[in-house]
Amino acid sequence: MPFTTEKSKQLYQRTLGVLIEASSSSSRGPANYGAYPIFMERGRGSRLFDADGNEYVDWMMAFGALPLGHAHPEIVEAVAEAASTGAHFATATSVELEVAEMLKKIIPNAERVRFANTGTEAVMAAIRLARGVTGRPKILKFEGHYHGWHDDLLVGSNVLPPAALGLPTDPVKIPDSSGLNRTALDDTIVVPWNDLALLESAIDNHPGQIAAIITEGIMANMGVIPPSEGYLQAVQNLARGNDILFILDETVTGFRIAPGGCQEYYKLSPDLATFGKALGAGLPVAALVGRADVMDALQWGGVLHYGTHNGSRIGMYAACANLRVLTRDNNAAFRHTWKISERLCRCLTDLFRKKGRAAIVQSVGPMFQVMLTDRPAIRDYREFCSYVDRGAFQKFVLSLFPLGVYASPSAALHSIVTLAHTEVDVDLTLAAAEKALESI
Ligand SMILES: Cc1ncc(COP(=O)(O)O)c(C=O)c1O
Repeated sequence: MPFTTEKSKQLYQRTLGVLIEASSSSSRGPANYGAYPIFMERGRGSRLFDADGNEYVDWMMAFGALPLGHAHPEIVEAVAEAASTGAHFATATSVELEVAEMLKKIIPNAERVRFANTGTEAVMAAIRLARGVTGRPKILKFEGHYHGWHDDLLVGSNVLPPAALGLPTDPVKIPDSSGLNRTALDDTIVVPWNDLALLESAIDNHPGQIAAIITEGIMANMGVIPPSEGYLQAVQNLARGNDILFILDETVTGFRIAPGGCQEYYKLSPDLATFGKALGAGLPVAALVGRADVMDALQWGGVLHYGTHNGSRIGMYAACANLRVLTRDNNAAFRHTWKISERLCRCLTDLFRKKGRAAIVQSVGPMFQVMLTDRPAIRDYREFCSYVDRGAFQKFVLSLFPLGVYASPSAALHSIVTLAHTEVDVDLTLAAAEKALESI
C-alpha cells in the first residue's frame, strides 16, 4: 500500500478552528513537521501507529517520557490498578512514600524528595528554594540550556543567528518568548557552557548575589552536547567555594544515563536535582530531590510549593512500576539501551561517511543526535547555532517517515533508545536512513 497521511491531513484541517498549531505545545505543530503533523493513534513497544494505519519505529518516545517504550505491560497494569481504586486522593499515600524511598536508594543526593508534575514545576520549586535558603536574588544559567517554560530562565535556549548572541564574555540576553514579566530576567545571569574561565569571571562579577547555578548534565536541547572532561565537577566546586547552590537539572538525563542520572555517571553531589520526563513512564510525574537541610525549607510552606496533582496516585503507581522495571536484574535496562545506542550511532556515522554527507552523531548512552555539519564535534551552543544545518536535518527526518521511522524533525532535540528498542529496530532504521539519503 502506498504511504499516505490523508487522515492526518483531514484531522489537521479540523484543528484549524479550535487548536493552535494542531496540538498543545508549540514543539509539536506544523512548524516542525512541514504542512501538517502526523496524528498518532496508538503505541506498542518501540512502535507508533498513525491515524492512517502506518507503523513507525519511534525514536522520539514522547520527548523522553517513555523509558520502557509504549504500553509496557507492567505500566499498563499499575495504571489500571490505580485508576480502578482511585486515581488521586491529594492526601498522604503509601505509594508516594514507596517511590520516594526508591529515589532515595538510587539517586545519591536524594536525602529528601518532593513530587511535582512536570520538569518546569520541579525547576521552579528548585529556584524558589535556592533563593529562599540563600537569601540571594540571582540565578546563573548556561547558554543553550532549557529548564522549562517559566519566566526566570526563559533566555538563551532558542537557536539564534550567531551574530545575535553577542560576545561570550557578555552574552546578549535574548528572551525566548514575548509576555515575560518585565523584570523576570533581571536576576538571571547567562554564561556559555563548557568554559570554566567565563563562569569564574561571571561569579566574580556578582559577589554574594548568586543563589544557584543550574545546569543540565548533558546539553540536551541543542542536540546532544556532553560536558567536557571534569567540567561539571569544576562547576560544582566553584559553586561550593562561593556558597552558591548547585542545581543539576536531570529532567532529560534522569533514569536514562544511569539509575542515578548524570549525578551518578559523572560522580557529582548537587545540592538539588530535578527530574521529570522518564520518571512517570508517560504519566506526568516530576521530582525535586536534594540535601535535607536545603529541602527542609519547604516545611510549612516556608518556601511555598503546592500543587493539587502533586504525587497523584496514578502517577506514583506508574513511577513505582517504572523504577522497578528499570532497576531489575542489576539495572539491565540501562545496559540494553547503551548497547543498542552504541551500534545505532556507530552505523549511522559510517552510513553518512559512506554516502559522502558531512555529519556527526553525538551521544551519551541512549541519547543521541545526528548533526549535519562539517565540524568534527559540536561543543557548545554557539557552535550549534553556527555550524549545524537544521533545515537539512528536518528534510532528512521527514523523509524517514514514509520509510517507517519516526524521530523529532528538530535538530535541537534528540533521539532516545528505550528498553523496548531492539536490534531489528536498528536494522530497519539504518536501511531507511540509507534510502532517505539516496532520495534527498
Ligand atoms: C533539561 C530540561 N529541564 C526542564 C524541562 C521542562 O520539563 P517539562 O516539559 O516537563 O515541563 C525540559 C523539557 O524539555 C528539559 O529538557
